[in-house]
Amino acid sequence: MTGNELRKKFLQFFASKNHLVLPSYSLIPEDDPTLLMIGAGMAPFKPFFTGKMKPPQPRIATSQKCVRTGDIENVGRTARHHTFFEMLGNFSFGDYFKKEAIAWAWEFVTEHLGLPEDKLWITIHTKDDEAFEIWHKDIGLPADRIIRMEDNFWEIGPGPCGPCSELYIDLGEDRGCGKPDCAVGCNCDRYLEIWNLVFTQFDRDEAGNYTPLAKKNIDTGAGLERIASVLQNKRSNFETDLLFPIIERTCRVAGVAYGQSEKTDVSLKVIADHARSLTVMIADGILPSNEGRGYVLRRVLRRAVR
Ligand code: GLY
Repeated sequence: MTGNELRKKFLQFFASKNHLVLPSYSLIPEDDPTLLMIGAGMAPFKPFFTGKMKPPQPRIATSQKCVRTGDIENVGRTARHHTFFEMLGNFSFGDYFKKEAIAWAWEFVTEHLGLPEDKLWITIHTKDDEAFEIWHKDIGLPADRIIRMEDNFWEIGPGPCGPCSELYIDLGEDRGCGKPDCAVGCNCDRYLEIWNLVFTQFDRDEAGNYTPLAKKNIDTGAGLERIASVLQNKRSNFETDLLFPIIERTCRVAGVAYGQSEKTDVSLKVIADHARSLTVMIADGILPSNEGRGYVLRRVLRRAVR
């Protein structure tokens, strides 16, 4: 399945569950001084979660362009980190909640993507017995594949946030670090997080206070490039059809080969990642400057050149 087919399948699946499918928003946030750039599918929808604005429909699905530079040092060194990626997401603004979000995520990954059930692992927030019951009783997952984690709480700066439940796939021992305690949550490439389901129930202010929202919501984020790597049986996102053509082109321009030396491969991956970021940032109207978004662009550009 190509990356384009995967994106389409996801959006069509949620359209069949009565979601309004919207195009990606620009990377430049509208009326949100807390963010330099859109870094999650939910970010353009903050006013819908808080009730400040009414959404066009209570259910929306998107594939959102995202830039996150927090992991920039890992880009090219791991199979899964990017500065630019697309986040597939389904959103409920005071409409459906945990039961439907969990059931649909499971239906999509097992029935529509054909991922093997026995390789899927789930995390939940330590105190989220409700999510545990849904995964265990409704979906039928064995209790030992549902891991409780204290840090399963999702937030991106101030704004709507809440406890979350993640879907991981075990890519096999040969992809792991080999440490005796390697398990879900390990930083190596064995257990890959493919989807995060956020049960958005709070609004965090600048001072760090969490106020319960009037309505319960759903915000999910599934990395397009990560899922493509699983479906295309590639060892890294960079080898999927979403990124590899850039690497091939760079190899031709630079007169180097991929897969011959780790140092060159890291460089090729950094160039591929940064070229995508830069292209989308510039297309959305960001230009190099000494501050704000423009400085991020400049830093990524400099790094790619170097
Ligand atoms: N908003 C969910 C995520 O980015 O993981």
